[in-house]
Amino acid sequence: MEILRNASEAKARFRSCRAAGESLGFVPTMGSLHPGHLSLVERSVRENDRTAVSIFVNPTQFDDPDDLEGYPRDYEADQKLLDDTEADILFFPEARELYADEYRYRLTEGELSRVLEGAHREGHFDGVLTVVMKLLCIVGPDRAYFGEKDWQQYKLIAGMAEAFFLDVEIVPCPLIREPDGLAMSSRNSLLTPEERKIAPLFHRVLSGGGDVISMKRALQANFDVDYVERRSGRVLGAVRLGKVRLIDNVRE
Ligand code: PAF
Repeated sequence: MEILRNASEAKARFRSCRAAGESLGFVPTMGSLHPGHLSLVERSVRENDRTAVSIFVNPTQFDDPDDLEGYPRDYEADQKLLDDTEADILFFPEARELYADEYRYRLTEGELSRVLEGAHREGHFDGVLTVVMKLLCIVGPDRAYFGEKDWQQYKLIAGMAEAFFLDVEIVPCPLIREPDGLAMSSRNSLLTPEERKIAPLFHRVLSGGGDVISMKRALQANFDVDYVERRSGRVLGAVRLGKVRLIDNVRE
């Protein structure tokens, strides 16, 4: 697997893939990879001639400096995991290069980004949309893959691609769960063993049916609940367990 750090070097490399007539799939991540990420990589490998993965813990999407500092990072383990896939290129940019403009230029969406996650994490989706736009401009993929665990993120990125006539297909991929139902997430590694035992209750309650008020009540016994809402045929929720924030959604 080729490893690229510099954005202009990466742009030239991705341009040469396109010039060779190769289709390019792209999986943007913040690292701390788990089987959910690897399922996106596998799908991209199946559907494209070349697959690029990026690892970048994007500072502008964190509304809490402690959350950014504590976000799990293990680049060596990530590289090893990717070496066992058929990904071709790992793009591993640096913040000072991606944000040479010091975030003076940013993307904002005015509706969906204000509810659910957006109502609890100020500026979060500005950061997500801005970094994804930067990465798409550098990589120029035919397809980019996003997990449905972050359903709202997927919808906003798909909407952005449409609004700006981007030449990329935004591909939603199924949420991957642990055997006990907990949605796979890099943040799960921050749960204490005791919290890890409690965490699957979140999915059990969301998928158990019933009205939103009863679901919130059931969750409040074990979690601090940010929201549980029904939207677009899904039940979506976010809770806090100790220092860890969990999000999940189930189709109705
Ligand atoms: O889902 C993530 O890991 C991040 O929000 C993304 C899309 C890589 C942007 O930083």
